[in-house]
Amino acid sequence: MKLGVNIDHSATLRQVRYRGVEESGEPDVIKVALLCEHAGADGITAHLREDRRHIVDSDIYNLNKSIKTRLNLEMAITKEMAEIASEIQPAYVCLVPEKREEVTTEGGLDVRSNLDSISALSSQLQSQGSTQVSCFIDADEDQVRATADSGAKLIEIHTGPFAHSFHNSEQVNAELKKVVKTAELARNLGLVVNAGHGLNYSNVTTLVKAFPEFYELNIGHSIIAHALFVGIEKAVAEMRDLIPQ
Ligand code: PXP
Repeated sequence: MKLGVNIDHSATLRQVRYRGVEESGEPDVIKVALLCEHAGADGITAHLREDRRHIVDSDIYNLNKSIKTRLNLEMAITKEMAEIASEIQPAYVCLVPEKREEVTTEGGLDVRSNLDSISALSSQLQSQGSTQVSCFIDADEDQVRATADSGAKLIEIHTGPFAHSFHNSEQVNAELKKVVKTAELARNLGLVVNAGHGLNYSNVTTLVKAFPEFYELNIGHSIIAHALFVGIEKAVAEMRDLIPQ
């Protein structure tokens, strides 16, 4: 199972002080990404938001040039983002819903309702050869079927509801069951199954035991927060140790 480290919040910290002069600002997010890789990350995930609140365009171009693993570009389904993805051709594009007012991605993409635009974008990006498209979806069987219909090759299951109910044993079991059922269906439909959102050092083991076939977990906030205490390399290595190889 692979670990993709989402470095958005290292950019959040930089933007607090260095908006507009990102290339000379601290922390250097490219250096963060390289240290994550050095510590065992299998990939780097970054979300280029419409409002550029953390990651900015130059980060994406520089990450794509500098990292040695592979870039997972999270983006909304917009013409602007499609052009950027087409130009840089990252290994993965993960399509996410985006609302300006949200603090972080709050829910999965409604693939069913946006099937035409997602199919067109998947086909455009995947026909270039080096990019595979993923849809970030809630643990919902119809959304899995819609993703398979769209031609996207991967899903990322939104684990936020599982993570947020982690301390409520009844609710967490129900959320976990939904995740596993969704993951099994996706695998049977030939999709690669990833998961992410809200995963941390306490809850990740329960998730991976419930479905050991996840291809990759994308984890950001908890790793960046833990890095304040132990440094980014140790934070990544500790998470890597919790995820089966
Ligand atoms: N996956 C997706 C699609 C996300 O949008 C995010 C962050 O918003 C993550 C994974 C990582 O979530 P977290 O920061 O809670 O680990």
